[in-house]
Amino acid sequence: MAARPSVLRAATRASRPCHSSINSYSRPAQRSFTTTTHNPRPEISSATTPNSPSHSQTPPPNDASRHGTTHFGFQDGLSESEKTERVAGVFHSVAESYDRMNDLMSFGWHRIWKDHFVSSLNPGLSSSLPPRPQRVLDVAGGTGDIAFRMLHHAHVVNHNPDVHVTISDINGSMLAVGKQRSLKLPASQQAALSFLEADATSIPPSVVPDNTFDLYTVAFGIRNFSNVPAALAEAYRVLKPGGVFACLEFSKVNSSLLDAVYKRWSFAAIPLIGQLVAGDRDSYQYLVESIERFPSQPDFRRMIREAGFEVGGQGWEDLTGGVAAIHKGMKPL
Ligand SMILES: C[S@@+](CC[C@H](N)C(=O)[O-])C[C@H]1O[C@@H](n2cnc3c(N)ncnc32)[C@H](O)[C@@H]1O
Repeated sequence: MAARPSVLRAATRASRPCHSSINSYSRPAQRSFTTTTHNPRPEISSATTPNSPSHSQTPPPNDASRHGTTHFGFQDGLSESEKTERVAGVFHSVAESYDRMNDLMSFGWHRIWKDHFVSSLNPGLSSSLPPRPQRVLDVAGGTGDIAFRMLHHAHVVNHNPDVHVTISDINGSMLAVGKQRSLKLPASQQAALSFLEADATSIPPSVVPDNTFDLYTVAFGIRNFSNVPAALAEAYRVLKPGGVFACLEFSKVNSSLLDAVYKRWSFAAIPLIGQLVAGDRDSYQYLVESIERFPSQPDFRRMIREAGFEVGGQGWEDLTGGVAAIHKGMKPL
């Protein structure tokens, strides 16, 4: 596997003083910023087709990490590298159909959740003139849904053109779709966008130094990571003090009736739609199983705290009765 630079597109800026104005947290901090957009890591080039996992709706207990292994959907006992490789296989396989499938699987709800997620972070908000620059890292950014919304919100809603977003993902196929989609953005937004191919659990410090970003977002990505605490530690490392970690992820439904309907829909319909529309049942079976395996809202909040983040209030916001949830934390000043 030959090493090659995997930055698909880079808009580099010089280091400059910067101030986080993500409005969920009010404490400002002056700090310097370095944008790094070159990734010398080898690209993951082999896409393993995942084996068909158990189709039971009852996940095994979520204790795999205690035994030094992890899980892939309902299948336990995988090494972290095996899971990473299988997840890569899933997203290589679904990349082209991903955006269409998202709409079909969620009846378009994912757009509403993503809009809400981005507005709740209010990127680009600044009380000073000229507005303060911000650097955003959208991890597991895939085909760009969050990054594009961030740029629109910052540049158009908050009139702050000095907000730069880096879309980072382990998967070159998803990034390639994102890069293609980004060509439809206004030129100023394209110039404020970079792509970085990297594993969220081990972002090389030579590529993204400590204390680089004001905001770290991850949407519908973290449940796929082979080691969630390692990814949270990386989020902590790359954020500046005062920087915000924000995660949008499928979560635990808090009404038993809604839960029953939702489980029936996800386990019966989503793999079938995957088969009919994308010709890929197994990948979509994995996606619904991975949702089941993700920790509950209080457990995930505990993990965010254990990574060192300050968590205000309850620490999460349920969306659509807990089908999805937003968790936030702040790296202490
Ligand atoms: C369900 S998609 C979400 C994409 C996008 N954030 C969205 O909301 O539409 C999950 C993404 O996580 C990425 N991913 C999985 N494991 C990863 C890892 N270890 N590091 C970085 N990205 C990863 C996949 O390649 C995929 O693009």
